[in-house]
Amino acid sequence: MGIETSCDETAAAVVEDGTVILSNKIASQVEIHARYGGIVPEVASRQHILSIIPIVEQAMTEAGVRWEDLAAVAVTIGPGLAGSLLVGANTAKAIAFAHGLPLVGVNHLEGHIYAGWLSCRSIGFPILCLIVSGGHSDLVLMKGHGDYVLLGMTRDDAAGEAFDKAARILGLGYPGGPAIEQAAAGGSDCLNLPRAWLRGSNDFSFSGVKTALLRLAEEGQLSSAVDAAASFQKAVVDVLVAKTVAVAAKHHVKHILLVGGVASNKFLRRQMVRASPVTVLIPEPILCTDNAAMIAACGYYRLQAGKVDDLGLDVFPSLRLS
Ligand code: KG4
Ligand code: ZN
Repeated sequence: MGIETSCDETAAAVVEDGTVILSNKIASQVEIHARYGGIVPEVASRQHILSIIPIVEQAMTEAGVRWEDLAAVAVTIGPGLAGSLLVGANTAKAIAFAHGLPLVGVNHLEGHIYAGWLSCRSIGFPILCLIVSGGHSDLVLMKGHGDYVLLGMTRDDAAGEAFDKAARILGLGYPGGPAIEQAAAGGSDCLNLPRAWLRGSNDFSFSGVKTALLRLAEEGQLSSAVDAAASFQKAVVDVLVAKTVAVAAKHHVKHILLVGGVASNKFLRRQMVRASPVTVLIPEPILCTDNAAMIAACGYYRLQAGKVDDLGLDVFPSLRLS
């Protein structure tokens, strides 16, 4: 079983052999936080408390398994919101204690990577992972299970964060990623917004393009929200694709693995496949955004490697991958 409560989704899933999804239940808090235009941490933890037991029960029922059928309980321990992480961690500890199951703490970012194993067959190493979510834009070289080297990261806003801020500037609502994608489909890339290439570095920077958009909005120069959305999406995707493809070539990887909430963006998926010299692995959209199946999949590989935790397991809001 996997449990995920790091941000605003309360999720539980049952996965067999780290690859077969028996159930994948998600209670989204999007509508609750939309009222505030973003996630309110205190509201998120309270909502997790209300949702976690029903979601765990639904995951068990839908999978058609009993507690004694489970091999372990895996749970996200970071990075994320402290109060939210605690709800999942304590639930997992209670289940592990009550049913005598091994407890496996999972890094949320590593979880996003393992969505790949739920979606794609015959994955070979090394892999270049682009993790693009609300909090991260990381380029990670994965040489084997549990073996990561961080090659690049964002110096300011994460890709998803940039989408969310741009959507707010354009009055497109929250969450911003899907709103921008939808608006962009009806517009064209005519603003020629700036791209931060940071030549010689594998890092990203998305605050400049956001500020350029804000300035145009303040000066009343954005006549079309759909063209602005298309231009913004193109500027972000151009940089993500070009840098990822260049790093993939340099490190002679077998695959590029595109994961995290922003990886559900169809334009990014298309452009990456078009530009990459190697196969691009991309989980289906529901496995790109936060879910617990990816946590269970990662937990399976950690369990195989003997990486089990005890009931003293803690949460780490700023946990890193390597
Ligand atoms: O991985 P995720 O569900 O949660 C985190 O771990 O942060 O990612 C959420 C982020 C949000 O910033 C959201 O706006 C973005 O992913 N996102 C998208 C799309 N769907 C979600 N960004 C661009 N296009 C999308 N279709
Ligand atoms: Zn995430």
